[in-house]
Amino acid sequence: MYVRRMRREDVAQVVQIDREAFPTEWPPTNFDRELENNLAYYIVVTEKKSLPPSSGPKPVSSVESQGFLARLKLIFNPVRVEPAPGNEEPILGYAGMWIMADEAHVMSIASCQRYRRRGVGEVLLIAIIDLAVRHKARIVTLEVRVSNTTAQNLYTKYGFQKTGLRKGYYLDNKEDAIIMTTEYIGTAVFQERLRKMKESHSRQWGPVYYDIEKPGSAK
Ligand SMILES: CC(C)(COP(=O)(O)OP(=O)(O)OC[C@H]1O[C@@H](n2cnc3c(N)ncnc32)[C@H](O)[C@@H]1OP(=O)(O)O)[C@@H](O)C(=O)NCCC(=O)NCCS
Repeated sequence: MYVRRMRREDVAQVVQIDREAFPTEWPPTNFDRELENNLAYYIVVTEKKSLPPSSGPKPVSSVESQGFLARLKLIFNPVRVEPAPGNEEPILGYAGMWIMADEAHVMSIASCQRYRRRGVGEVLLIAIIDLAVRHKARIVTLEVRVSNTTAQNLYTKYGFQKTGLRKGYYLDNKEDAIIMTTEYIGTAVFQERLRKMKESHSRQWGPVYYDIEKPGSAK
């Protein structure tokens, strides 16, 4: 998986994931406006882009049949597979947060329905926490529906605790929101726990490439 900042050309795909994940939420997020918002940080997870058949190394299975020299070439000339800007790779999930003063507030997090339970949600949350740390937030906080135990499990796994309740917070059905918050994310203890979670995620799901700073900007 590859995590990077959301770009304008991603908006159409992100809107689809957003509608699928939050069909009753009104008004829907205006992602074009969020990308202009200096407080906002939006990221997407994509599959690492594969090379067109003619331009890169062949898959190991087919190289094997070509003999020793071909295998040596592949070992000594590994090709880095980087998604090019403006590409059309499928987006597996997105997340957004606002950082205000020293508090990072998760606005939304969603993975594409057909990619759920494959570690995408965790990657999004890890990247959001990483961004919050880099931008000197002290804590990460969010609201989650009382009925959304799936998301609550994800947040609990990453050290969020229930810290409050907002009565009738959701406009569609007046459902209450649980407020969930991390401890201080700058501590060595929190960082070490996050590092271990990342390692264990990579062992389970493979390497993840994080490229989350805004290009050409301190943000
Ligand atoms: C919540 C959501 C982002 C999780 O995404 P995902 O890609 O499926 O998550 P992952 O595969 O990384 O799972 C990570 C953890 O989330 C929890 N989780 C995910 N799916 C779950 C399920 N169906 N039941 C229970 N726990 C679940 C588990 O703790 C899981 O860790 P585990 O595999 O060790 O049990 C996804 O279900 C989603 O987009 N839901 C709709 C939008 C939404 O509710 N967003 C949150 C708004 S506050």
